[in-house]
Amino acid sequence: MNYHHFHEWAHLLLRLGHFLAGIMWIGTSFYFVWMDSSFDSPINPRHGVDGELWMVHGGNFYHVEKKRFGPGEMPAKIHWFKWEATLTWISGFILLVWVYYLTNGAYLIDPRIKVITPLNASLIGLTVVTVSWFFYDFLFRLPIKITAITHFIILLYFSAVVYFLTHTLSGRGAFIHLGAIFGTIMLFNVWRHILPNQKYIIEASNGGLEPNYDLGIKAKKRSMHNSYMTLPVLFIMISNHFPMTYSHQYNWIILILISAFGAFIRHFMITLKKTPIIIALGLLFILISFTAPKNNLVIASDRKISFQKEVKPIFENRCIRCHSRHPSDDEFTEAPLGVNFEQVEIIQSLTHKIYNRVIVQKDMPLQNKTQITDLERSTIGQWIKQGAIVDE
Ligand code: HEC
Repeated sequence: MNYHHFHEWAHLLLRLGHFLAGIMWIGTSFYFVWMDSSFDSPINPRHGVDGELWMVHGGNFYHVEKKRFGPGEMPAKIHWFKWEATLTWISGFILLVWVYYLTNGAYLIDPRIKVITPLNASLIGLTVVTVSWFFYDFLFRLPIKITAITHFIILLYFSAVVYFLTHTLSGRGAFIHLGAIFGTIMLFNVWRHILPNQKYIIEASNGGLEPNYDLGIKAKKRSMHNSYMTLPVLFIMISNHFPMTYSHQYNWIILILISAFGAFIRHFMITLKKTPIIIALGLLFILISFTAPKNNLVIASDRKISFQKEVKPIFENRCIRCHSRHPSDDEFTEAPLGVNFEQVEIIQSLTHKIYNRVIVQKDMPLQNKTQITDLERSTIGQWIKQGAIVDE
């Protein structure tokens, strides 16, 4: 068995684990937020019961009570939810290092944005993640009333971070780091606020004292912050499949708008009010129009483009370095996504994708490592528009 094969399987399992843990984390988070907004006052008022709820699932009926326990009333066994969050974060961190920090900058940096070493880019990424947690935590710990101004400051801070990251790292590198920032804030909210506050409440009750339920309210606030970050994080995780987002000239605006879109959708899911969904749809409309390709690269011309004489050499000079059976690139030792342009049939069958990546999004060749020119992009574009015919 060769090392590369083992490496690929490890990567697959790690992604699967990250995905699974994330589903469990976000699933429980959505479930509890939903329950909180669905409780009714108890039909028969009982001591300590704030709300109750009946559910049916899989043929069984479930009765849930939302309770406050007084001194000495805490049950012996209580289920906590913490490993979903922790495993999501750990697997995510390993993936970040694996895919972005240990691949010689292939996805992390873009010399057209900034010339910077992969090591420095990684250190900048990690620093921004760490600083962001401390800034956010500091702001929401201040002994002042949390107001619209506090929220405005944190939004301003995140926007500045997005601007900085997109002007320092590659589009993808910047996007994934905002995801890492949100994910880290979410995890630390769990470990530094939510879990300790729950523990104080339990310990107080077990010690025969009246628990301070304000601690629970404080924990809930952090938990709500987490809830609003879930959809932006999910979007960021899939964004690397959509170059129209991360490789756009104004990718920082797109990232801010998409994060806002996710937060408003979440707000709608929680409140079921009209305003957030209207705002979210408005943002979506802006996003779709804003990312519409402005494509003036392909100059219309009646001259027939020859595949053999004009197009093939471009693929050979600009693409084969990565997209071949035995790539010569320093980072890619196998054709990315199995796409091998040494075979003409593959070029012909992928013209739609090639047109999108080379002419519209212009994010292939990756980081323009092989220095394709606009004229060459245009030649490929014209050849595709003329029907991608291969001449003898
Ligand atoms: C430095 C390496 C590198 C070079 C050079 C390069 N690519 Fe890629 N290409 C990649 C990687 C990595 C991926 C997979 C990740 C992605 O989709 O962004 C990819 C993916 C693609 C895809 C998407 C395939 C799919 O099935 O979704 C297309 C199309 C593509 N490249 C076209 C080209 C063309 C055309 C050229 C030359 C003009 C080129 N690439 C040059 C690295 C490279």
